[in-house]
This record gives sequence, C-alpha cells and structure tokens, in this order.
Amino acid sequence: MRPIEEFVRETANSAVLGVGGAVHKITGGKHPKHLFSKNVPHPFIGTDVKIVSKTDDCTTIAKFNPDGTISDKEFTVLLATDMHVDRDNALIYKAMDMLYKHIADVKPDLVIFTGDFLVTDYQQLDSVQFARFMEDIGIYWAFVFGNHEAREEKEFHKYFMLKNLTKYEHCLTKIGPSDLFGYGNFFIDILNKDNKVAQSLALFDSGRDIYPRYCEEYNLPMEYAHSYDFIKENQIVWYENHIKALQKKQEDVSSMLFMHIPVPEYKEIMDFDENEKPIPTGKPTDKGDVIYGGMHESVGCSKYNSGLFERARAMGAVAFFSGHDHINDFAAMYKGVCLAYVQMTGYEIYHMGDKFGLPESEWLQGTTILKIIPDGGFKLKQNFTSKFLK
Ligand SMILES: [Fe+2]
Repeated sequence: MRPIEEFVRETANSAVLGVGGAVHKITGGKHPKHLFSKNVPHPFIGTDVKIVSKTDDCTTIAKFNPDGTISDKEFTVLLATDMHVDRDNALIYKAMDMLYKHIADVKPDLVIFTGDFLVTDYQQLDSVQFARFMEDIGIYWAFVFGNHEAREEKEFHKYFMLKNLTKYEHCLTKIGPSDLFGYGNFFIDILNKDNKVAQSLALFDSGRDIYPRYCEEYNLPMEYAHSYDFIKENQIVWYENHIKALQKKQEDVSSMLFMHIPVPEYKEIMDFDENEKPIPTGKPTDKGDVIYGGMHESVGCSKYNSGLFERARAMGAVAFFSGHDHINDFAAMYKGVCLAYVQMTGYEIYHMGDKFGLPESEWLQGTTILKIIPDGGFKLKQNFTSKFLK
C-alpha cells in the first residue's frame, strides 16, 4: 500500500471522528448517530495484565500481583464472536451494550473476538471507534478476521483496519508476517509465575472463500471453489515453528488456536436429528464427547481439509475456538483436543430468534469464558446474554 494513500485515509479518519466528536458534544449526544464509541456507556475497568515482551508476530503477557510478581491465579479470557457491527441499526448499540455488560461482569484479563466483528461499510473509521471503545475500558483485547471483514471487492482492506487498530495500546492483534496468507496471524503467549508459557495462543486469518484461483494455486479440485476458506500451508508451518521454538526453552508447550471459520473436524461432533423439527438439533455422534451446547445449523467449514487439526494436535494443541456458525455453540473433546464454538455475541444476520422464532430468553447470544490454569489445563463456560435481560 502506498504511504500517501495510507496517510490520506488515516488523516480522513481522524478528521471525521474529530468533527463527529465535536458535533456529539454540541448536540448533547443526539448526532451523529453512528458514534457507538460515545453513545454506549463503557466506564473504565482496568487490568492487572502487562506486556512482558513483543516481537513482530507475538506479544508475551502475564497477569501481575500488586508487588510486581507474576500472579499464580487463573488467567481469564472472555471470548466473543460475530458482533457484526454495522451502521443504522439499533441492534449494534444493543450488541455493544451487551458486550460491555459481559466485560464488566467477568472483568477478564483478555478479550478475544473470533471474527465478523466489524462489517460496516466504513470499516477503517469504525475500527478506530471500536479500538477507542476498548481502550476506554482498559483491558487487553485481540481479534481475528472473519469472512465478512474480507471485502476486497469493495476495496476495504484488512491491512488498513489493522494499521488503525494496532496503534492502540490495548490491542494485541498484529499484522503478522507478510509472507503468510492473510492479515492478522499472530501469537499471544501467556506466562506463568515460573516464567514459562502457560498457553501459547495462536490466532489465524481463516480467509473468506476458496476463490477459483486458489484451486490452481493450491492444486485443489475445482469443486472446492466457493466453499469456505481454509488455513494455508504457510500458516501451519508458521504455527509449528513458533511451538518448536518454545519447545526448545521448556519441556511442555500447550497451545490454543483461534480462527473464524471452524476446521472440518467440527463436522465429526454432531449430526442432525431429523426427528426434531422445526428446530434442527444436533445429536452427538460417537466420535466426540460433547461438553456442552448444540448444533442448529450445519458446520460452515471448508470443503478442503488442509490438515491444521492433526498437525496442531501433534504439536500439543489442547483447544480450537471458532465463530462463524451463529447458532452452533457446542464444545466437545475430539481426539483429545477441545473443539469449541464461541457463543455468538451480536444480533445481526441470523440467530435463534429470527431463524426459529424462539423468545429472547432462549437465544444463544453470549460470550464464552475461558479460564487458563497457570500450571496447565483450562476450564470453559457458556455465559448467556439472557441473564442481562430485564
Ligand atoms: Fe458471522
């Protein structure tokens, strides 16, 4: 991207948000309508987490005690997905408001969004708004791109979004190595009190669709074209290299992988029960052990399995987290690895209400609480938004 174009876009963003902020003040919050960063209350919460070190593709963090030593308490990650923040829609304010309620309720050490969080036609502008919202709260956060943020046909560039977002102190997402597929491939390593990595979090850009040109490039049958995208070989090797480097420093390395589009192994967990209509409900197969949740739509994965699951499993991965399928929310053990959907947090596109006419008290909206145990292991919990409804 040319520096001049980058400069013009960034200057325009700042100018629009600056004027917007002034108008907001003058009109007592009535205009402009789109400033969710100002119109949704989000008081400061703060954090005990600090950045220990950084490289171009990894941030190492730890939770600290007041005396400056690393805490031996559980490290809480709040997972949210598919916020689908758009404009001109009251549901966006509701999604942002509920997101804040979840954060205030859990007071996590880190918030991770697994894609489709910003789908507005003004992505660059609204990414800055979103970053300011999170910056005001004062908790570290990161995100991966979903298929809906990849809208190159409209000249929205993921690169620009990242350029905007990565300037903010609490945003841990990185642009990542330029020789990998996509943007926003990066690690967050969490240290325990022994200065060992308790969990290495690997976050991937899982792309959008298999464009026909990919079939040639990756030597795939043409029938795979237009199915959902897959994690590319260079991304898998990058992940393996990071874990191998950690393995040289410590005996056991545990990792968790985050991406928007689920890996095809999620299909092994449940099948549709044809007898349960009009709401199709997944029934567990005998291949996985379901921990919680269900399946109400088919798994929206790629037709092509690029092998990430098996290779990550061989490297000691303990869990995968994905979004994308708004009304699937199961977590299950499969071949010794946890495959989990993050609870859908937004209200756009489809959910259990507009799809099946269920009352809001039965919708799946929420967040997922991941507790990382410093000496190894983790706990997972569904955290439904329905508890905040009056
Ligand atoms: Fe989505």
